[in-house]
Amino acid sequence: MKILVVGSGGREHALVWKISQSPKVTKIYAAPGNAGMAALAELVDISAEDVEELKKFVLKNKIDLTVVGPEAPLSLGIVDEFEKAGLRVFGPSEKAAFLEGSKVFAKQLMIKYSIPTAQAKVFDDYNDAIEHLEEMEVKHGLIQKMVVKADGLAAGKGVVVCENIDDAEDAVDQMLRKEVFGEAGSQVLIEECLEGEEASILAFVDGKTIVPMVASQDHKRIFDGDKGPNTGGMGAYSPAPVVEEYGMAKIQKEILDPVLNALNKEDIKYKGVLYVGLMFTKDGPKVLEFNCRFGDPETQVVLPRLETDLIDIMEAIIDECLSQVKLEWSSKPAVCVVLASEGYPGSYRKGIPIHGINLAEALDGITVFHAGTKLAKEDVVTTGGRVLGVTALGDTINTAITKAYKAVKLISFDGMQYRNDIGQKALRRLK
Ligand code: AMP
Ligand code: GLY
Repeated sequence: MKILVVGSGGREHALVWKISQSPKVTKIYAAPGNAGMAALAELVDISAEDVEELKKFVLKNKIDLTVVGPEAPLSLGIVDEFEKAGLRVFGPSEKAAFLEGSKVFAKQLMIKYSIPTAQAKVFDDYNDAIEHLEEMEVKHGLIQKMVVKADGLAAGKGVVVCENIDDAEDAVDQMLRKEVFGEAGSQVLIEECLEGEEASILAFVDGKTIVPMVASQDHKRIFDGDKGPNTGGMGAYSPAPVVEEYGMAKIQKEILDPVLNALNKEDIKYKGVLYVGLMFTKDGPKVLEFNCRFGDPETQVVLPRLETDLIDIMEAIIDECLSQVKLEWSSKPAVCVVLASEGYPGSYRKGIPIHGINLAEALDGITVFHAGTKLAKEDVVTTGGRVLGVTALGDTINTAITKAYKAVKLISFDGMQYRNDIGQKALRRLK
């Protein structure tokens, strides 16, 4: 089979890496890909969002299956376009991807079908939003924490966890008056702030069946101890003890099955991967967000544990017979430490040479997934905020952490930053 993977991040490198292990696959292309993927796939110079050009490429090269990594092309309707042209493509339709594309839509769906989530109100008028914040202040006091969210896709920057009303008013001002997110911020959600530990459940869905993968936990903030601004994710581990303690069977019954049922009742056929971000509160797990794709960096710890052929799973989803596939997982925990550019999640320099990737990869149980890299002559150089994800498999979470950091120490580039505490929450729970 000939496969095209769309995207250029660490998630897509992990997808290419896993797909390359399938005996069915003879050739992989990646558009636009990165330096790490170049070792396993032929890079194609087409943007992940250029649906028309991607379709032409797939038709011309007789690609058997296209796998879409990021949310942007999914929200642009790449799956609908490809299906109209009779092509096989893995990912949800534009309508189904709206679950990530509109936080207001997702929230209304959860409320309608009693899926546990944070209470929220929707505003498109600045004055109404401010009035609501002031009412909340009177009710709950000055230091009430709250979350302000832009409705649409905002490259991971549209959620502000506010410590007090001043921060919340500022976030509302940025979104509704200053329009910093454009159309994506023309509606906002003002949401109760949930307290607890987060975990990510990625699930395979074929419209009829929803099957969770092994759970994982991301590290959203830039600095150790969950300090500083939110990022795309600075590292991950799997399994997540917080999920195991609660029980996946209960999560399936209380959240996953009701979500699939809600989608079907609304006449939305969801096929692909559904990412459910959960907060484990004292009242049980509540949904923070849905994404319509694999998570990044969660994929870099989940796929290394998958023992079933990923192509078989993707084909079963397209053919709506997922229930016939048995998923097998390695019991070995995985840890991924993200190496990021200086300045990330703000602005950062590009084109900085990276050293030591080969040394790190030579260690037992280590895979280095590239996120923001490209080849410049002989060098691998940085091109993004998140540059690499160093993944280790170990017999225990503790050995996986030790191995991952040993490999990290062998890699360097000017301004490289990473968190030193990836996996520590798991260790604390296991004590
Ligand atoms: P989202 O894009 O909706 O996942 O939000 C990004 C991050 O913001 C989440 O992973 C949480 O860390 C945080 N967050 C979102 N909603 C809430 C909430 N209601 N309470 C507390 N934290 C939240
Ligand atoms: N790691 C968070 C995400 O993929 O959205």
